[in-house]
Amino acid sequence: MRKLSWSDVTPKPLWLNRRQIIAGAGALLASPALARIEAAPSRFSTDEEPTALEDITSYNNFYEFGTDKGDPARYASALTTDPWSIVIDGLVDRPGTYDLADVVKDQPLEERIYRFRCVEAWSMIVPWIGFELAGLLNRVGVQPGAKFVAFETLVRPEEMPGQNSPFIEWPYREGLRLDEAMHPLTILATGLYGEEMPKQNGAPIRLVVPWKYGFKSIKSIVRISLVDKMPPTTWNMLQPQEYGFYSNVNPKVDHPRWSQASERRVGSGLFAGRIDTLMFNGYEEEVASLYAGQDLAVDY
Ligand code: MTE
Repeated sequence: MRKLSWSDVTPKPLWLNRRQIIAGAGALLASPALARIEAAPSRFSTDEEPTALEDITSYNNFYEFGTDKGDPARYASALTTDPWSIVIDGLVDRPGTYDLADVVKDQPLEERIYRFRCVEAWSMIVPWIGFELAGLLNRVGVQPGAKFVAFETLVRPEEMPGQNSPFIEWPYREGLRLDEAMHPLTILATGLYGEEMPKQNGAPIRLVVPWKYGFKSIKSIVRISLVDKMPPTTWNMLQPQEYGFYSNVNPKVDHPRWSQASERRVGSGLFAGRIDTLMFNGYEEEVASLYAGQDLAVDY
């Protein structure tokens, strides 16, 4: 079957909308550095209208570049993403330092249009390009004792000015339970909107776990470790009462300082109302069984 591109799989009005946006927005969006990526459509995609590329790439959390939402777009262009390698280690049959090209080799790329819900109560619809993390883990061979997967982001303060501030103990770290990591919704994303991943969104490769708060979706990954114990994770290390290891999107469990019952869609316009937050960000049918018997109010 011929692989389809974003323009092929997107309803015409959306595609036209995007082209008009590109025509109007000039330099930022017409970046010649971003190569187009061919990817197949996915049954996991939502049919909600994707958030504009301009919003996805200008309103970011990527503390390696600063704490302001505009800092990643302002500073991330300095990040060198080629060459890029990823250490895969721990309880795996084939540990090693893999070039990015080797990591993505033979992994079927799909477009996954996912809801993305930040713990700060804003959300977007993002047309990611990526492949299932399970495909990579199966290729390196997960050993029987592995129970969790730990991830780390690059540390390079010369190119990541936010890392000169020690409020986070760098590297940014995240983790998943092995069954969460193997779930088909969990992807490593290498692009969005049919193009290479913009640097502010976590180039060249990041995690996307759509049923969890956005901070679990760690960017610019340089290490993936299979481990037998729950690994330390950045926001949980900083504020354990506010950010649990699981951090599944849950409208019934409020953040200690704000409600999680509703959210603001970024780019939806000044007068658009808040929308209800969905259990597991709308992926309840797919993932609820992972947490059978777990009290999600306690085990957050
Ligand atoms: N990954 C790293 N390395 N550093 C970060 O600061 N922020 C997280 C997550 N991944 C972050 C990160 C948070 S809080 C969110 S909401 C998402 O990235 C934001 O992703 P986006 O900017 O692509 O929307």
